[in-house]
Amino acid sequence: MKYILRILPFLFFALNISAQTIEGITETFANSESISSNEIAIIPEPVRLVKQTGHFILPHIITIQVGKSPELKQTVAFLKERLSIPTGYDVNVVNPPVANPTIKLIINEEEDTTLGNEGYHLTVGVKQVVIRANKPAGLFYGVQTLVQLLPKEIESKEEVKNIKWTAPCVDVTDYPRLGWRGLMFDVARHFFTKAEVKQYIDAMVRYKYNILHLHLADDEGWRIEIKGLPKLTEVGAWNVKRIGTFGDFIPPKADEPRNYGGFYTQEDIKELVAYAKDRFVDIMPEIDVPGHSLAAIASYPELSCTPDAVNYKVRSGEKIMDWSRGAPPLGLVDNTLCPANEKVYVFLDTVFSQIAKLFPFQYIHVGGDEVARNFWEKNDQVKELMKREGLKTIPDVQAYFEKRVEQIIVSKGKKFMAWDEVLEGGVSQSAAVMSWRNMQHGLDAANAGHEVVMTPTQYAYIDYMQADAITEPKVYASLRLSKSYEFDPVPEGANAKFIKGAQANLWTEQVFNIRQAEYMTWPRGFAIAESVWSPKEKKNWTNFFTRTEQHFKRLDIAETKYAPSVYDPIFNVKRSADRNLAISLSTEVEGLDMYYSFDNSFPDHFYPKYTTPLVPPIDAKVLKVITYRGKTPIGRMMNMPIEELEKRAGKR
Ligand code: ACM
Repeated sequence: MKYILRILPFLFFALNISAQTIEGITETFANSESISSNEIAIIPEPVRLVKQTGHFILPHIITIQVGKSPELKQTVAFLKERLSIPTGYDVNVVNPPVANPTIKLIINEEEDTTLGNEGYHLTVGVKQVVIRANKPAGLFYGVQTLVQLLPKEIESKEEVKNIKWTAPCVDVTDYPRLGWRGLMFDVARHFFTKAEVKQYIDAMVRYKYNILHLHLADDEGWRIEIKGLPKLTEVGAWNVKRIGTFGDFIPPKADEPRNYGGFYTQEDIKELVAYAKDRFVDIMPEIDVPGHSLAAIASYPELSCTPDAVNYKVRSGEKIMDWSRGAPPLGLVDNTLCPANEKVYVFLDTVFSQIAKLFPFQYIHVGGDEVARNFWEKNDQVKELMKREGLKTIPDVQAYFEKRVEQIIVSKGKKFMAWDEVLEGGVSQSAAVMSWRNMQHGLDAANAGHEVVMTPTQYAYIDYMQADAITEPKVYASLRLSKSYEFDPVPEGANAKFIKGAQANLWTEQVFNIRQAEYMTWPRGFAIAESVWSPKEKKNWTNFFTRTEQHFKRLDIAETKYAPSVYDPIFNVKRSADRNLAISLSTEVEGLDMYYSFDNSFPDHFYPKYTTPLVPPIDAKVLKVITYRGKTPIGRMMNMPIEELEKRAGKR
C-alpha cells in the first residue's frame, strides 16, 4: 500500500499530459499537492510556470489595488467585470495602498529586463495575487493569465452559483517570443459591424494577440468613410446580397437592389482604434491596391485604364477572375487601378492622408496581391508609361506603382507594408513585406533586409477548411489545427532580426456572419497565438491539445463559437489490387474510437469499430462515421458518399 502511495504521483505524472511546465511538474510533486489534470491550462503556454502549494480563494469582497495610470483603465475594468459578473462578488478598485488587497497590479519602478514591454510576473499566493510588469501591457497579459487560472465559469456573462472560485498557487514569468502577434479580419468581402469587430477584439486579446489587421477595401466593398470621396461609401460599400457558395454566384441583374454591406464612419474608426488601444491592440488598416479594387472603381470609374469601367459594379460574389492558368490571375473585368493615370495617385494621396490620421499604427498595408495585369498589357496609357519610365515588363509597371504608393505612405509619416508579390518587380529597401504564399518568400525578404510578417497559407490561413470538405463550408484548401500548430514563424536559419512576427488571416468570402468568423478563428487562433508568444522549445502538440479542450469549455461558457473539426475522422482512400476501394480512417487527436455504418443508419458505439481499411459493400451509397471517446460521442456524424470516395480514389 505504501509503495502504491509513493508511486501514485508518478503514475499521475505519466498520465497528466496537461501539466504546464517541467518546473511546474517538479514543484508540484515536491509539494505533494493534489493535481487536477485540467487545473492549469494556459494558452499561450507561458515561458515559466512553477506550481506552488495551496490555492487562492476569491473572497466575497475583492480589492484590486492599482497604481495611477490611464493606460490601466481597461485592464482594471476587464478584471473587475470578469471577477464580479460570474461570482456576484463585490469588487473594489483602490488607488492609494491599502492593507492586504486581494489583487495588486504593480508597474515596476526598476525595469525587469527579462520582461520587456509586454511581459509580466504573476504570483498567485494563498492570500494574495500580485502581478508586476514594466509596462501596462504586461499587466493586461498577466490578468489574462490569472483569469485562465480561475474556474472556467469565470467566463460566464451571468452569475454562476455553487462554484469554488479558486486558483492554484503559481509563480509565472512570461513574455512574448515575437512582437507582432496578429489576426487579419477581412471586413471587405462581408461587412462586420463595429460591435462585431469589438467582439472579435475581445476574443483575440484573451490569447495575447496585439495586432488587428483590418482588410478595408476589396472588390466586394469599400469600408471606410473618406471625406471628399463620398461615392466610395455611397456606391462602393454596397452590393447585392447573395447566399450560398461565394465565387459562383449568378451575376446580379441590373434591377437587383444593392443594399448589402456597410462601412465605418471616421468616428466609428476612431472608436474602434481607441477600443483596441485600451486592450493593447494596434489596428493596421489595409487598402488593397492596385488589384482587388473593383469597389473603388465602381465608385470612381476614372481610376481605371479601361473605358468600360463606367459599367462596373461592386462585386456580389460572381466570377470576375480566371485562375485556370494559375497566378497571376486573368481579370474577366479590370479590377485594377490604372498605374498610368495621375488621378489615381491623387486619389490615393487623399485616401492615405486620412487613413494615416485615423490610425496611429506605424504601418499602412497597401495590398499588392493577385493583380490581374492582362488589361494593362493592352492599354495604350500603360504602354506610354512604360516608354516614358523605361519599364521593360508588366511586373516593372507594378513595381513603378508600388514605389509611387510608398512615396505617398512615407510622406504621411508611415511605413509601407504589402503582400509578398510586391517583391517580384522589386520594391524599395524600406518596404515591409507580409509573406503569405509560402514561408520562403518571407525568408528571402528577411535575407534581403526587409521587415517581414509571416502569414503563410500552409499554417496561417484560417479561411481554409478545418476538416473534410463534406462537412466544412467549401473553400479551396484545408488547414487542420495540428498543421497550424506546426507553424514556426522564425525557423532555424532565418534572419530573425527582420522577422517582426506573424499572424493568421481570416478572409471572409465564405464567412457570412460573426459566428462563422469565430468558428474559423478558434481553435486555430490558439495554435497561432502559441506560435507567436510561447518559446519554441515549449511547444508540444499533445499538451497543447489537452489545453485546447479546456479552452473549448471556456469558449462554450463565453458563448464564443469554435470549430469542433479536430474531432472529425480523416478519410483516406485508394484502390486495392482488385480495383475496389480501400478506405482508411484516422483521427487528428489520440485516444478516439471511430464507429461506422454502410446501411444509412446512424452509428454509435454499439456499431462496428474501425480497425482496418474498409471495403464498401457493393450496393452501399454512404459511409457514416462518428468518433467517440470511451462511451461519449465527440465528433460530428460524417456522411461520406461512396461516389465521392470513388472520385477521390481515381479511375477504376
Ligand atoms: C492573399 O491571400 N491574396 C494575400
